[in-house]
Amino acid sequence: MAINTVCVVGLGYIGLPTAAMLASKDVKVIGVDVDPATVDAVNCGVVPFVEPDLATYVAGAVRHGTLRATRYPEPADAYVVAVPTPLGDRREPDLSAVEKAVRALAPVLRGGELVVLESTAPPGCTQRVADWIVEERPDLVAGPHRDEHGGAPLLRVHVAHCPERVLPGRVMIELVTNDRVVGGLTPEASRQARELYAVFCQGEILLTDARTAELTKLVENSYRDVNIAFANELSLVADRIGVDVWELIRLANHHPRVDILRPGPGVGGHCIAVDPWFLVDAAPDETPLIRAAREVNDAKPEHVAQQVLKAVEDVERPRIAALGLTFKANVDDLRGSPAVEVVRRLAQARPDARIAVSDPFVRSLPEELALPNVRLVSTASALRASDSQVVLVGHAAFGPALSGLVDVSGLVDVCGILWSDPRLPGGDGEPSC
Ligand SMILES: NC(=O)c1ccc[n+]([C@@H]2O[C@H](COP(=O)([O-])OP(=O)(O)OC[C@H]3O[C@@H](n4cnc5c(N)ncnc54)[C@H](O)[C@@H]3O)[C@@H](O)[C@H]2O)c1
Repeated sequence: MAINTVCVVGLGYIGLPTAAMLASKDVKVIGVDVDPATVDAVNCGVVPFVEPDLATYVAGAVRHGTLRATRYPEPADAYVVAVPTPLGDRREPDLSAVEKAVRALAPVLRGGELVVLESTAPPGCTQRVADWIVEERPDLVAGPHRDEHGGAPLLRVHVAHCPERVLPGRVMIELVTNDRVVGGLTPEASRQARELYAVFCQGEILLTDARTAELTKLVENSYRDVNIAFANELSLVADRIGVDVWELIRLANHHPRVDILRPGPGVGGHCIAVDPWFLVDAAPDETPLIRAAREVNDAKPEHVAQQVLKAVEDVERPRIAALGLTFKANVDDLRGSPAVEVVRRLAQARPDARIAVSDPFVRSLPEELALPNVRLVSTASALRASDSQVVLVGHAAFGPALSGLVDVSGLVDVCGILWSDPRLPGGDGEPSC
């Protein structure tokens, strides 16, 4: 089936760039989102979040009539589902948004369409997408055949998983250049999904089955998390023994087969801090290392807070400069940020402290930091007369500001911003997703 019209469900950080990219290739794109404000913004050619170049793509596509947004799915040749898959209360995958999105698109299916799940998904989720379609539309069952896992009946729609691995801040580039893994429930679904992504993807499109595709994404982010945890654990070891972790890692990385990442304040964002739990949930007895890495990274904000508290333990009403709030350098995204967690813990532990937070990407403090002893100021003003300075995010702007600091006795350089050794690869929560 030729793919002329695509319905992209979920117009967030992933869905909207994908919709705009497809629309830029003259595919007719219908963007669907449950949030009326997002729908209105997109229809006005406006992007409701920050991502370089995306606004130009969206405004152009809306102007040319190749992209429009609506709250409800409409008939199309292909559907791309990019809705959130957060963690539930017990750290299990919460698939409620995927289920709602799939059940909502099922009534408009005519048979023969491609349905691609782009949301990060636990093993078996793509099959569940097919199951939800069958529940809504038993008329789309293609007979008594079974799929390769012996489970569900074959459908007259083609269901595949194609996880997204773009880097926030470079999404419009990486959508085109990254390789993609495509896993269909059937070989025909894989083939059709490859045809869809070949419209804009210049990277390799690698075909596999749906479960392997699901696991590939989870494994990529677990790999990142475990490696960052190793660096974070080293920072604790170095503190305990009294050596400089940056010097330690720099020297170890001179070994030809060692490549340790940078430690940081922990791991944040919506990918690396979440996806490993999907693997733990799927195979709890087989994942002690992945679970431990999550715990090491989750414990890091408390360690950083203790370092700062120690630096000001003898100071009454200390002034603490906290540099950086976002979950990684040079973006405006605060989701799951360990820097926010460090500041929250500091404010709680020392109600008498005056905590001056500075972040060039943040216009107002997040809700959890609406506290009487925390305020958002310029970097120069935060550093002025501060008793301790904690660098929580390696924003490029902080380097020059800190180079003028005369007394560094109260400095806690969590991101090693004063180190510029090229042998230290990025790793302080830098997502590969
Ligand atoms: N943001 C990233 O860098 C990134 C990278 C790789 C993978 N992912 C994965 O992609 C998926 C989407 O992530 P995101 O960052 O784009 O999320 P997001 O929160 O930015 O956007 C999701 C959008 O979906 C909408 N939505 C929610 N439920 C819906 C429904 N039932 N029907 C229609 N719209 C609905 C929301 O209103 C929102 O606009 C997640 O599974 C995430 O893990 C994200």
